[in-house]
Amino acid sequence: MSDSSEKLILTGAAGLLGQAILNKFRSHYDLVAVINKTEIDDPPEDIEIVQADLSVKKAVSELIDKHKPDIILNAAAWVDVDGCESDRKRALKSNFSVVENIVNAIKDKRIYLVQISTDYIFNGVDHPANVDDSPAPLNYYGRTKFMAEECIVDNYARYLITRTCALLGSPNRGQTNLINYFYNSLKEGKEVQAPEDIYANPIWVENLSELLLEAIQKGYKGMLHLGGKDYLSRYEFARIFADVFGFDESLIKPVAAIHQRRPAKRPQYAGLNVNQTRDKFETPLLTAREALTEIRKNIE
Ligand SMILES: NC(=O)c1ccc[n+]([C@@H]2O[C@H](COP(=O)([O-])OP(=O)(O)OC[C@H]3O[C@@H](n4cnc5c(N)ncnc54)[C@H](OP(=O)(O)O)[C@@H]3O)[C@@H](O)[C@H]2O)c1
Repeated sequence: MSDSSEKLILTGAAGLLGQAILNKFRSHYDLVAVINKTEIDDPPEDIEIVQADLSVKKAVSELIDKHKPDIILNAAAWVDVDGCESDRKRALKSNFSVVENIVNAIKDKRIYLVQISTDYIFNGVDHPANVDDSPAPLNYYGRTKFMAEECIVDNYARYLITRTCALLGSPNRGQTNLINYFYNSLKEGKEVQAPEDIYANPIWVENLSELLLEAIQKGYKGMLHLGGKDYLSRYEFARIFADVFGFDESLIKPVAAIHQRRPAKRPQYAGLNVNQTRDKFETPLLTAREALTEIRKNIE
């Protein structure tokens, strides 16, 4: 049971991040978990689960009128970066229309809106993004996420936008979990290719959920960058991963990203500058090794 009378609507509750938030927040808020088609694994009995396609305007206004939340945390999105490039209509619906509908429905209310955004709104030319850098997305996913940010900033005052990057979860949880490819290939003794020239600061979803809880409890507003402590290339990350999970590190082959041609362009120096973030939180930002060690413990 929650220790708060505050009602929080969590969208994207069946997602990689959403499920971690759900588990972390359920003892702190009176939670309403919103899912689309994907179901929550082992849904807790004390949580109200609502199925809704939030790209439909009426579904959003009905949800808010019925539950009268104090807080809305939007972790719903379509995060398939290559998919967003080819199916732009779906990308726009999940990443922008959902947010536009929420903003329109709460315009005249005093609800605290927390939006999850991404480092992919930046072009990542030469450094991890600072909060004040100008967005310049390289792909359609990033464009739609930036449109959502603009919609909030231009039309609503009580908001917190938290940009995050390269999410880590338990192996095979979530489609975009950075770990899945390395885990599944190395477990079968297969070689993996890891770019030496793509950088980010991966963050474990449990660490991110703890930071989000602290941010919301402290009532932070504006823009925040929440990423992991280490800024590493994919190759460096893969080496640490193999070491922590006890896989053969020699199976990891460094490559240049150009050899991994994909439909959507990616920023080279992705990730987020978290220097300012660290001073604002008691929750520590974990290193990649610390996060992976915890993830390994959780599956043993
Ligand atoms: N994954 C990363 O590495 C990463 C990096 C930076 C930022 N982020 C951001 O972090 C947040 C969470 O990402 P994630 O990796 O947890 O994503 P995820 O696992 O794909 O979960 C997103 C959830 O949103 C739901 N959703 C999509 N469209 C919806 C709609 N129209 N109505 C209601 N629900 C809808 C999806 O449900 P269905 O599947 O049933 O449609 C899905 O369960 C997103 O804002 C993302 O942009 C992620």
